[in-house]
Amino acid sequence: MQFTSKSVSPIKAKHQCLIVGLYEKGQLTDTATLLDEASNGHLQRILKRGDITGKVGETLVLHDVPNIAAPRVLLVGLGDQNSVDGARFIKIAAAAIGALQKTQTTSTLCCLGETNISDRDLYWKSRRLVEQFHAGLYRFNSMRGTSSGVPVYLKQIDLLVSDQSHSKDVKRAIKDGCAVALGTKTAKDLANSPANICTPTYIAEQAKKLAKAYPSLTTTVLEEAAMKKLGMHSLLSVSQGSAEPAKLIIIRHQGGKAKDAPHVLVGKGITFDTGGISLKPPATMYEMIYDMCGAAAVFGAIHTAAELKLPINVIAVIAAAENMPSSTASRPGDIVKTMSGQTVEILNTDAEGRLVLCDALTYIDKFKPATVIDVATLTGAVVVALGAHASAVYANDEEVAQRINQAGENTLDRVWRMPLWDDYQSQLNSAFADMTNTGGRDAGSVTAACFLARFTKSYRWAHLDIAGTAHRAQGSDKAATGRPVNLLCQYLMDQVGS
Ligand code: BES
Ligand code: MN
Ligand code: ZN
Repeated sequence: MQFTSKSVSPIKAKHQCLIVGLYEKGQLTDTATLLDEASNGHLQRILKRGDITGKVGETLVLHDVPNIAAPRVLLVGLGDQNSVDGARFIKIAAAAIGALQKTQTTSTLCCLGETNISDRDLYWKSRRLVEQFHAGLYRFNSMRGTSSGVPVYLKQIDLLVSDQSHSKDVKRAIKDGCAVALGTKTAKDLANSPANICTPTYIAEQAKKLAKAYPSLTTTVLEEAAMKKLGMHSLLSVSQGSAEPAKLIIIRHQGGKAKDAPHVLVGKGITFDTGGISLKPPATMYEMIYDMCGAAAVFGAIHTAAELKLPINVIAVIAAAENMPSSTASRPGDIVKTMSGQTVEILNTDAEGRLVLCDALTYIDKFKPATVIDVATLTGAVVVALGAHASAVYANDEEVAQRINQAGENTLDRVWRMPLWDDYQSQLNSAFADMTNTGGRDAGSVTAACFLARFTKSYRWAHLDIAGTAHRAQGSDKAATGRPVNLLCQYLMDQVGS
């Protein structure tokens, strides 16, 4: 998909379609007014018929509007003129690309950047348009055999710049938006790939491939033998029941000076989570191909960092393993020693995410990180608490928490802060070991974070529990959302020059 900024008269533009906004109660945007006047009131006549009123997300395709060069005009409802906000704008963009795809349009001029939003600027709107259009055009077709997916006709999307002095902002938005969309696509492709393809070994291969494509990137992979030497017995206890060996995958982006402390992103990469001996019920187990969405997100974010040549150092670390039941699997009651020296009583083999993350979080201490964010589909409890709209964020540092929140509000890839109070720690008390790996039913997402907090005391750290936000669950509608790649990218972009 090609995006460019264009200063052109919408009346004369030779694109196959114009995308034009319309406020509620028939209030026209500037471009709609222009088209209406040029066509001697054609738009107003259509509005009178009542097929579109301007409500949010309504769309209508007009053909052969008199005196307009483009053969199609896609009208998109913007809702009440005085209350358009960022979240609504994203819905509007999604509706526009949805409607456009029902046509065979190959080139379009998008005029939605003129939508009035009080607290968002043209860069923000343009970047969201680019990201939303990319998201709407995303397909995961690599697994199809004889069936073909929904075709994509669009090749060229131009964003209208009515005032030349704004063209720099729009160009920057296109560059950034396309880079974020690229990282998001990478994350979605990895996450949507089923567990018979996307094994820890596969992710490691993809990471090596990525590093070949960008000079700023290098990938190293720790095999099980190396992890054993380092004392990562907790991580290895998760893969020990699987025929697929675990991998610790380290992707470095060297964009800053050699001595600059890196921002480290750690991803949970359980390529399939059966629960292990504490086997999950069958009804929704297929969803557990998405238990590596944290890994996919940090992979995608570092892809974007490399694409944008961000002048900072970033390290993505992926703890990849498959959680299977077998005669070699770990058992409920087993006690393992983590790399930190602390021991863990595994009361439930289905609480495996924290077991792989704790060793990865100990390992990264050697990088002397500026900040650390781990990203994990860690608990079903967070889905109960926050649903599909917000990721949970936990942090041992106020500034890191604030920066993550800011990046979330900016991109609307939002988070909600949860407590890491000591009060919850006693739920992890073990009879024989330093801790158990489950904290009981109450506050399951909090106690999982409290477990990780025991391994992250030496640096500024935040944990994102993305079990509710990273994928949509049901049936043929199942799909990775790409979250929180956008948040992570924004967090990294905000670190530049600060
Ligand atoms: N991968 C799951 C969490 C999950 C649930 C992700 C739903 C996506 C959707 C995790 O490994 C898990 O099984 N967690 C257990 C922990 C419990 C045994 C303490 C859970 O949440 O039930
Ligand atoms: Mn599990
Ligand atoms: Zn899991």
